[in-house]
Amino acid sequence: MFKRKNILKIAIDSPAAAGAGTLAKSISKNYNLFYLDTGKIYRFIAYLKIKFPKKFNNKFIKSKINSLKVKDLSNINLLSDEVGTEASIISKIKSIRKMVHSFQINLAYNPPKKYKGSCLDGRDITYNIVPDADFKFYVTANVKIRALRRYKELKSLKKKVTYSEVLKSIKKRDKSDKNRKISPLKKTKDSILINSSKLDRRLCFLKVKKIIDRKINI
Ligand code: C5P
Repeated sequence: MFKRKNILKIAIDSPAAAGAGTLAKSISKNYNLFYLDTGKIYRFIAYLKIKFPKKFNNKFIKSKINSLKVKDLSNINLLSDEVGTEASIISKIKSIRKMVHSFQINLAYNPPKKYKGSCLDGRDITYNIVPDADFKFYVTANVKIRALRRYKELKSLKKKVTYSEVLKSIKKRDKSDKNRKISPLKKTKDSILINSSKLDRRLCFLKVKKIIDRKINI
C-alpha cells in the first residue's frame, strides 16, 4: 500500500458518546487533517443489514464498501440507537472487520492530497489501524454524562427515546465493545487519557491542542 510521507497522523479511541467525534472534527479542522469517523462505517454496514436483510452477505458488503465515498455516509441516517446496537454486533465479525480495516488504513496513510494528514476515531485506531500515529488519545467520560449527551443529541433530531433507554444501550455497547475478543476497545499505554466529563467542547479541544502544539512546535 502507498503511504504518504511526512503527514501528521492522529488516532483517537473512545467509548460511545464521549465527545471523541466532536473533538476529532475540530482538531482536523485546526490542523487541516482528513477526518474519518470509523464508527460510521460499521454503522453503515449495520444499516445495510437492517435495510437489506436478504442480500446481507460478505460479497454484498464488499461491493458496497468498494463503492463507498466518505461523503455518502453523511447522507444516510446512521445515528439511531438501533443502528448503533446493530453496529456493535456486526463489528465482532472477523471478515467484516477485515474489509473495513483496509478501507480505513488506506485513508489514514493516504489521505486526499489537500490534507496535511489524517485523524481517525473509533475503538481500535490507536493499536490496530494507526499504531504509529504521532498522537494517540483515549477520550472518555462518565457513562451517565455520555448517555445524557447522546440523549440530547437524539432529541434534537426529534427521535423518540427516553434517557434510560439511551443509558441502557450505551452500557450494553460499552460491555460488548470492551469485552469482545476481536479488536476490543482499550486504552493503550502510549495513549493520552482525556476525561471529558467536566470539559465542554471548547475546553476539550484546547486541552488536546495544547498537547499537540507542544510537540509539533519544537
Ligand atoms: O463510534 P460509534 O458509536 O458510531 O460506533 C458504533 C459501533 O461500531 C461501536 O459501538 C463499535 O461496536 C463499532 N466500532 C468498532 N470499531 C471502530 C469503530 C466503531 O468496532 N473502530
